[in-house]
Amino acid sequence: MSQVLKTPTSESSEMASSGAQVVEEVLVLDFGGQYSQLIARRIRECGVFSELLPATTPADAIRKRKPKALVLSGGPASVYEPGAPAFPAELLELGIPMLGICYGMQAMVKALGGKVEAAESGEFGRADLTLRDSGGRLLGGLPEEQTCWMSHRDTVFEPPPGFAALASTPASPVAACEAPERGLYGIQFHPEVVHTPYGTEVLTRFLREIAGCEEQWSAESVIAEQVATIRAQVGEGRVICGLSGGVDSSVAALLVHRAVGEQLTCVFVDHGLMRLNEAEQVVEAFSQFGIPLVHVEAEERFLAKLAGVEEPERKRKIIGEEFIRVFEQEAAKLEDAAYLVQGTLYSDVIESGGSDAADTIKSHHNVGGLPEDLEFELVEPLRMLFKDEVRAVGAELGLPERMVWRQPFPGPGLAIRIVGGEVTRERLDILRAADAILQEEIRAAELYRQLWQSFCVLPVVRSVGVQGDGRTYAYPIVIRAVTSDDAMTADWARLPYDLLERVSNRIINEIRDVNRVALDISSKPPATIEWE
Ligand code: XMP
Repeated sequence: MSQVLKTPTSESSEMASSGAQVVEEVLVLDFGGQYSQLIARRIRECGVFSELLPATTPADAIRKRKPKALVLSGGPASVYEPGAPAFPAELLELGIPMLGICYGMQAMVKALGGKVEAAESGEFGRADLTLRDSGGRLLGGLPEEQTCWMSHRDTVFEPPPGFAALASTPASPVAACEAPERGLYGIQFHPEVVHTPYGTEVLTRFLREIAGCEEQWSAESVIAEQVATIRAQVGEGRVICGLSGGVDSSVAALLVHRAVGEQLTCVFVDHGLMRLNEAEQVVEAFSQFGIPLVHVEAEERFLAKLAGVEEPERKRKIIGEEFIRVFEQEAAKLEDAAYLVQGTLYSDVIESGGSDAADTIKSHHNVGGLPEDLEFELVEPLRMLFKDEVRAVGAELGLPERMVWRQPFPGPGLAIRIVGGEVTRERLDILRAADAILQEEIRAAELYRQLWQSFCVLPVVRSVGVQGDGRTYAYPIVIRAVTSDDAMTADWARLPYDLLERVSNRIINEIRDVNRVALDISSKPPATIEWE
């Protein structure tokens, strides 16, 4: 089932089973490009651990990590702008292979004496790439003619002295170049996006043949490494874990349980903002793993705090804080509970400003939203993982398929899907009923897995309708269904009309307080996935 994490090689299995934590890594220096995160993810898909660091990371910090190679990402700046991020020339001393992508290549070329200039027109989207001189070490063996994905205005016209030009497109005379004896490589196109069909081959060539990386990054190696790390952090301490029913907290709990067994108690705070029957499913699933679980039924407490609150960030904050308070009360009942497990993902870390160059989009998710008086030390075993990796680890740990593939659901639950008004029990019940119909029909149409998320939104407005002989004055329900790789960008899903018709009919017929169903056809950006 693991599509992302590969089966480990025999050496890495040994490494993993000994709990050793030395995993080869390739660092991606982030110049703020929109695909920087994706580069790290693709490298990991090639079985090599990769992490994104701000391009401003001091050379010393990078040296200490002993990376096998460096990748310089794309970025929005022009190499000529005053204050444009500089090529990290001091890193050349490391003597490890370096691959510049887009801006990363331009910065390298300019710093080393090549010619980069603003072209009259930029090159955005698909481009036809033609190899020169058989493609050199980096591109050799790939088709002479291929397509690639471009996104740049500045253009490399001449490689630096000692570099060979490897390929061109109609708009880019030097679309790739290299100086193999110095370990330096540059490509103008984006190998990390799916629109560059040979992108994975190019990355694999760089990682395996040029940087000599082994295939070490796998679900098993993650589990072995995390089990060792959790044991080292927690020792004999008591740990509590808040379960939400989602794949992240479930996998985090299973990892911690694998590491410290009965020292872990899971706490499921039922804030009353869950989907239909979800609470029961969580309790049942975890009892099957034999993991001690405290089920706190706290709906009234949360609804009381949310009374009269319309503003989305306040809803989030109230729910987040209340969550922690409930945990603290439960933890106080558990002698010595000093650690709290969080299912924070790598994308949450980056989106909350873990990377300097990318804009911080929202101060939410699991990072940064915690109150300052938190009394637990956090255990975050998924902090370095992308979502697909979490699913692969979950499957490896035996999590049921239905939970492994569960669509993401926001921590504050349905509260942020009641938009422009107060959260009340009545509105929650309407939204829950509509959402259950949507999920049921989407599963029946076998589309659930193909969608990143599918859900209903309840805007707090009423409009006139007519049902039977009478006029109605009721809520609309908005259907939001998106495809996405990582929630950073998303497209609205083209759901079949007959499915939409069924869902609409059922929602309006089965839920008295709804008289309209609308479909959200916005992509992210400019919209977000959630409405709030
Ligand atoms: P947006 O709406 O920013 O959402 O496009 C991106 C992804 O994040 C999820 N999301 C949350 N997840 N706590 C969470 O755990 C939250 O407060 C939260 N808000 C949004 C959203 O469902 C989508 O997958």
